[in-house]
Amino acid sequence: MDLKGKVALVTGGSMGIGTAISLDLAQNGADVALTFRKHGDEAKAIVEKIKNMGRKGMEYQVDVSDFGSVQKLVEKVTEDFGRLDILINNAGMNWDGVVWKMTEEQWDAVINVDLKGTFNFIRAVAPNFKEQKAGKIVNITSINGLRGKFGQTNYSAAKAGAHGLTKSVAREMGKYGVNVNAVAPGMILTEMYKDLPEEFKTKAAEETVFNRLGEPEDVAHLVTYLVSEKARHITGDIIKIDGGQYI
Ligand SMILES: NC(=O)c1ccc[n+]([C@@H]2O[C@H](COP(=O)([O-])OP(=O)(O)OC[C@H]3O[C@@H](n4cnc5c(N)ncnc54)[C@H](OP(=O)(O)O)[C@@H]3O)[C@@H](O)[C@H]2O)c1
Repeated sequence: MDLKGKVALVTGGSMGIGTAISLDLAQNGADVALTFRKHGDEAKAIVEKIKNMGRKGMEYQVDVSDFGSVQKLVEKVTEDFGRLDILINNAGMNWDGVVWKMTEEQWDAVINVDLKGTFNFIRAVAPNFKEQKAGKIVNITSINGLRGKFGQTNYSAAKAGAHGLTKSVAREMGKYGVNVNAVAPGMILTEMYKDLPEEFKTKAAEETVFNRLGEPEDVAHLVTYLVSEKARHITGDIIKIDGGQYI
């Protein structure tokens, strides 16, 4: 893909899928601003790799659930890089528990990061994307937002909400040349799931038609395609990348 001259902002670029997306976008020519919350050293190391590819890279600390901080962050990134073309809403968390035991804190935390965080960034970039009559937005959601999942009422609700958000923003911003899509992965081996018992991972792999779990790069390649001009006619879509885990 040719992303030369494009500037991308990737939330949660310090770990897992966000790291793979940041590196793949840079590999394909984009300059990349990435955000982190706790893992500053990891974020710095990814930025070094981006710079070694001859691209511009910078890391920024932000809590995606904080509306005001996100507004300021997007202004700063646009100022530092001179423009903004691509937004990847990847930062996310889970905090599982069956609904009859779920606390208000658990519910609010996941909704605030996974759903409100996605809104916060879209709200912050939308005026600029509208003005420049161009832009690409990809929201990283989950197959659990489509099928539901035992123990994940908060997470599934947040991701399903992000699907509705994706479709509505696609409708609103289409006439301004902005593509808005969601990518819904099945289970991908990252920090988020590293502490799960081995038998849980084996069971998830067996749910796929390939009997394997996905890797962060599998998601990254789809995202890079979606933000390229080759995908200009795709918008308002939710594309699963799950090895057939949910058919
Ligand atoms: N892994 C999977 O199997 C899977 C499956 C479906 C969907 N997804 C989705 O894919 C995305 C990435 O998942 P992952 O597995 O790569 O997760 P991960 O390894 O746990 O990384 C999560 C990233 O989000 C950032 N983050 C979390 N809360 C944040 C907050 N409040 N403010 C700012 N940044 C925050 C983290 O930053 P710090 O580490 O710096 O705090 C980190 O960079 C998430 O949206 C997740 O729901 C993952």
